[in-house]
Amino acid sequence: MEQTIEKKIMDTHQKYLSALSGKEIPQKLEAQLEHMDWSYLELIHGSRQERGKFAPLGAMELSQIQTHREEYLQSGLNAIRGGKVGAILLAGGQGTRLGFDKAKGMYNIGVTKELYIFEQLIANLKKVTELAGVWVPLYIMTSEKNDAQTREFFAEHNYFGYEPEYVKFFVQEMVPAVDFEGNILMEAPDSLAMSPNGNGGWFKSLLNAGLDSDLKEKGVEWLNVFAVDNVLQQIADPVFVGATIQSGCVSGAKVVRKADPYERVGALCLEDGKPSIVEYYELTPEMAEAKNDAGTLLYGFGVILNYLFRVDKLMEIADRRMPLHIVEKKVPYLDEQGNLIKPEKPNAYKFETLILDMVYLMDNCLSFEVEREKEFAPVKNPAGVDSVESARVLLQKNGIEI
Ligand code: UTP
Repeated sequence: MEQTIEKKIMDTHQKYLSALSGKEIPQKLEAQLEHMDWSYLELIHGSRQERGKFAPLGAMELSQIQTHREEYLQSGLNAIRGGKVGAILLAGGQGTRLGFDKAKGMYNIGVTKELYIFEQLIANLKKVTELAGVWVPLYIMTSEKNDAQTREFFAEHNYFGYEPEYVKFFVQEMVPAVDFEGNILMEAPDSLAMSPNGNGGWFKSLLNAGLDSDLKEKGVEWLNVFAVDNVLQQIADPVFVGATIQSGCVSGAKVVRKADPYERVGALCLEDGKPSIVEYYELTPEMAEAKNDAGTLLYGFGVILNYLFRVDKLMEIADRRMPLHIVEKKVPYLDEQGNLIKPEKPNAYKFETLILDMVYLMDNCLSFEVEREKEFAPVKNPAGVDSVESARVLLQKNGIEI
């Protein structure tokens, strides 16, 4: 399938160029075509189609964390106070499932009062900065689609009480989306339908924005990367930071115990001896149900998009190719009559690299269990599973006034 799509993209690219030859090409479109990074197509060949041999990776479980809590907490707080820990908020996604037309972080999840997702995340981070007595540098990844509104929103709300000098924004790269026949889509007469290139390119985008100098200047050695949509996200959690440092691992991942063996989450494991994430659909029933002597599922810890990476290791892998994922999404486009169509169902393929593939590039990873009810309330959909509704219930359960 991917070969065909690649050829079609090339063909449509050619078609556009020849259709436009001799005519005046709108400036924006010309710039898009000229600056288009077609090299992402090469990634198709680099896709990690064949998976290696999976093996379980034991987690540091809640009971163990509880026993060493104080020691990890102090170690993490030391690192934070030493300016060694930064946080990366991944906020470049389009949140198409939520169907909210602004940046997802601008969504008001409050019921009786305003409570924006960004506001709640900053409140979560401030619990740590107040305890540590220092600001944690926060880097926010946006996309071209939501960068201006995100910056304005933070400015309008006085950074929700965070220190603006410690907040930096950077913009991720865009790639064209294609319809299911492989044709490039237009979103306006002067513009191709472009989509953010996934959350896997965040470190490259941070470097492209020149923010490595900020990391150096501040002495940041660890980056805690997290998703915008989990309103119970614990950011720069000192216990997690301390446990990862003490473990000697170069990365860590927060995980939750699966609700059942077949829950649709990616499980942290080993693949050919490297840390990796096996998707629920890649597990055979034997693997899904396998347990250790203590009755814990061997592939029973799901990732929640909260990772810790050592910066020197990120530097080492910055130029490594990441597999390209082709995902079906709703992408607004112009039809042949030039009408803007906002599809109700997925109508196009987007090309994305994913942060979970970055874990595979690390030598090792601490699997760190957290309590789902306390740390995992993703807002993906308006209602039902992982939704505004379910997140509201969890916020209230955690004593957060909404
Ligand atoms: P999702 O996988 O939920 O994607 O992102 P999404 O685009 O936000 O939402 P849907 O699938 O269209 O409904 C997980 C995290 O990765 C970020 C998102 O902002 C979220 O924090 N992300 C995703 C990016 O920063 N850039 C991207 O290109 C994609």
